[in-house]
Amino acid sequence: MKKILITGGAGFIGSHVVRLFLQKYPEYDIVNLDKLTYAGNLENLQDVESNPRYTFCKGDIVDERFVVNLFEEHQFDGVVHLAAESHVDRSISNPTEFIKTNVIGTINLLNAARNSWKDNFEDKVFYHISTDEVYGSLGKEGFFVEDTPYDPRSPYSSSKASSDHLVRAYFHTYGMPVKISNCSNNYGSHQFPEKLIPLMIHNIKQKKPLPVYGEGLNIRDWLWVNDHARAIDVIFHNGKLGETYNIGGNNEWTNIDLVKLLCRTMDKKLKREQGESEKLITYVKDRAGHDMRYAIDATKIKNELGWEPSITFEVGLEQTVEWYLKNEDWLENVTSGEYQKYYEKQYK
Ligand code: NAD
Ligand code: TYD
Repeated sequence: MKKILITGGAGFIGSHVVRLFLQKYPEYDIVNLDKLTYAGNLENLQDVESNPRYTFCKGDIVDERFVVNLFEEHQFDGVVHLAAESHVDRSISNPTEFIKTNVIGTINLLNAARNSWKDNFEDKVFYHISTDEVYGSLGKEGFFVEDTPYDPRSPYSSSKASSDHLVRAYFHTYGMPVKISNCSNNYGSHQFPEKLIPLMIHNIKQKKPLPVYGEGLNIRDWLWVNDHARAIDVIFHNGKLGETYNIGGNNEWTNIDLVKLLCRTMDKKLKREQGESEKLITYVKDRAGHDMRYAIDATKIKNELGWEPSITFEVGLEQTVEWYLKNEDWLENVTSGEYQKYYEKQYK
């Protein structure tokens, strides 16, 4: 048996990774460490709760003592580190929280892993999950490759860049067995509805205004969350130590075209007249320092590890819409309370 720590497993991507690892690796015990912030939700993992190889542990990666004790207690063989503050708009209103969790939290995990492995790193892996946003903002041309210079421009991407640098520093300085991946925007089930796609689905359903920032011409490269989880699996098991892998969907959309596609899909699913939901589109004040375009060149992971996205965007998006429509209770539970306050402040 191997014991694997997954941090942030109650969040959007983490819950898909926990589920995949439990299903695919009967020889793994999985410990999910999560603080359960507004974005962490144990409902995301209800189906695996009773699995004897799964343990949930509520805790804060910023709490150094707690993290050290957890590593002493469990003697992990590997770490997949996803816990983070992850929403750019929240990082603009509260940057310090992002430095605490994303930077201090990451160094606490690195130190605890190093300490528990006593500098004997054979068969150990510390895998840090990051974002393409660390590379900055592209113009019309070009793609992010693994050695694109870092140029983060939001407090969120700066905190992720900082943690990426620390993880690499531990490889060079202490020989820690690290891996890093930088992924484009994810979509799929269980995503907190503050991010573009679930927010728009939620609002279309409720016939609420669809807040498009600026002119809606910013471009993102969208990847189905299950395909990201598959890439994480491949990198964790077969990626080279000390290396970085870019993960992307080769699937660029302007925000406005994406929102219109969602409107058409939802009109069909909800049996509304075509064009009805598009009327809800409302252009609002642009995000401060809004990055224009992200686009990933995922050639390295394809050539070296044989990973590619498994489904088209149209199919993935339709399945995603269906999931949110079917799981009204989930949406209601996560949108009560704290989220309502956030929504009112953000879009007042
Ligand atoms: P999320 O916000 O849905 O989940 C984050 C999880 O981390 C939550 O369960 C939360 O409770 C937990 N967490 C937050 N602070 C914590 C702390 N101090 N201690 C312990 N747990 C804490 O985020 P996500 O979208 O699932 O992203 C997961 C990771 O993937 C992040 O590192 C993010 O930077 C990265 N990433 C996300 C995307 C994307 O499109 N969502 C793309 C590329 C990379
Ligand atoms: P988001 O889902 O926050 O991801 P990120 O900023 O990390 O890429 O936003 C995706 C894009 O959608 C981004 O260009 C900002 C834009 N956006 C809106 O136009 N309206 C919204 O209400 C939100 C949340 C995002």
